[in-house]
Amino acid sequence: MRPYKIFTVCLLGISTLSTLITQAETVQSGGSTTVFQEGPNAFAMPLANISRINRRAHVVGNSFFNKNWVFSPSSTTARDGLGPLFHARSCSGCHVRDGRGAPEKGDKVSVGLLFRLHFPGSKQGDPNLGVQLAVNAAPGIEPEGRVEITYEPVREKLNDQASITLRRPNYTLHAKTIYGRPHPQTLLSPRLAPPLVGLGLLEAVEKDTILALADPDDENRDGISGRASYALNPETQQTELGRFGWKAGQPNLRLQAAVAFWRDIGITSSIHPKEDFTPAQAKILNPSTSGAPEIDDAKLNRVVTYLRTLAPPAQRTPSAEKIIMGGELFARAGCAKCHTPILKTGPYAPLDELKNQLIRPYTDLLLHDMGEALSDGIDKPGISGREWRTPPLWGIGLTETVNGNAFYLHDGRARSLEEAIMWHGGEGLAAKQAYANFPRESQQLLLQFLNSL
Ligand code: HEC
Ligand code: HEC
Repeated sequence: MRPYKIFTVCLLGISTLSTLITQAETVQSGGSTTVFQEGPNAFAMPLANISRINRRAHVVGNSFFNKNWVFSPSSTTARDGLGPLFHARSCSGCHVRDGRGAPEKGDKVSVGLLFRLHFPGSKQGDPNLGVQLAVNAAPGIEPEGRVEITYEPVREKLNDQASITLRRPNYTLHAKTIYGRPHPQTLLSPRLAPPLVGLGLLEAVEKDTILALADPDDENRDGISGRASYALNPETQQTELGRFGWKAGQPNLRLQAAVAFWRDIGITSSIHPKEDFTPAQAKILNPSTSGAPEIDDAKLNRVVTYLRTLAPPAQRTPSAEKIIMGGELFARAGCAKCHTPILKTGPYAPLDELKNQLIRPYTDLLLHDMGEALSDGIDKPGISGREWRTPPLWGIGLTETVNGNAFYLHDGRARSLEEAIMWHGGEGLAAKQAYANFPRESQQLLLQFLNSL
């Protein structure tokens, strides 16, 4: 009797495993939300399975995302409230075509890279300039200043024969003094505008699925210890799992959109009802609003639906032999330990389209210590300067097509996917070394795989 039992268990085991594998192979980036688009608008498509009613909300949200906001008072009251201090006039000013920003355009600093300000020991940012540098302002008002970026070359060995020249950024803050000087200890955290595809699906992954990937004390001793980020939700006053932003500082898309309106464009909402002024600024800048939020909840929610319904693009030629080999090398180098290939969304997503989808985002949504070279030098309670959230890789191969340029990592220092890999340190060091030890042909297969995503 016994051997027979073991045999059935074995058979069962093999058959479940093989169905899982076949299922996994056919999983498209966003499950049934996936769009098959490869052109410049590949990141701007609504979910393939979107309902008529959500499509309408998507279209309205899209208009608030793309249009330039204007200063108040103005006759276009549906879109006024810009500034007085701000960074860009529209969401799409930084998230160009729903894709990513660029740190520079030619030799000019671009708005797609913004700067958080941190004053050690304070949550309020710089005492005079606040949490984020505003590089623009309404007519007659001084912006807070600007940042000058210079790069120094860094040589890294790519393998026994070849090396690569990376560039390390240095930042100099040129602040206006009208609001008082920035504190000499104030630190800058550069942040590139990330691409926005598939975020509704990432919001719909259940908390327990993400926590199951975390290994904060590295109990399995693989050198990788993903940690969950926690942040205060000002609407619920609860500490919640953070998912969005380079440091996973925002728990959901509504909060992320509200903070973007507030700090990036100067638009108040029910979540952030007062302009983001420091005491020194409040004395000089008379907030001209009537007290009502500059974007009401109905419009804010349309923008949130827009974000939730931006579809991830399908992988190109996933079954080509070279792409399969590149994907195997991606796993062999250890990339998949953080860039988790497959996740499942939960049954309680805010939109039906997003529920119970098997997806391929290539992220665990966890924080990892990426080493000193990538640190922004800002250690806060609960998060160090070296920690960053694993960015999703779906769509990454379409960056150049969508944006006309390609800059990677939180500060856009990497000018190619290979440079991005070669900056991995800390928990990512072993994967980078594995990549660097591959023969050139294998490195190219891995890059081709990334470019197919
Ligand atoms: C000044 C440039 C800029 C503007 C304008 C801007 N963003 Fe962003 N956005 C960023 C940056 C930089 C980040 C990363 C922030 C961080 O790391 O905390 C970001 C992050 C996001 C994210 C999270 C993406 C992710 O993968 O976690 C969403 C969603 C988002 N922005 C939506 C918006 C919306 C909606 C608007 C308009 C209301 C907007 N943004 C305006 C620069 C910008
Ligand atoms: C320890 C976790 C970890 C491992 C292992 C890892 N990564 Fe990453 N990866 C990250 C994090 C975190 C970032 C963001 C770092 C930053 O922006 O400073 C990142 C960034 C990237 C980026 C740039 C993404 C963007 O949107 O700018 C690419 C491309 C990338 N990784 C590919 C790889 C490849 C290929 C491998 C294997 C050779 C790998 N990663 C291994 C965590 C990891």
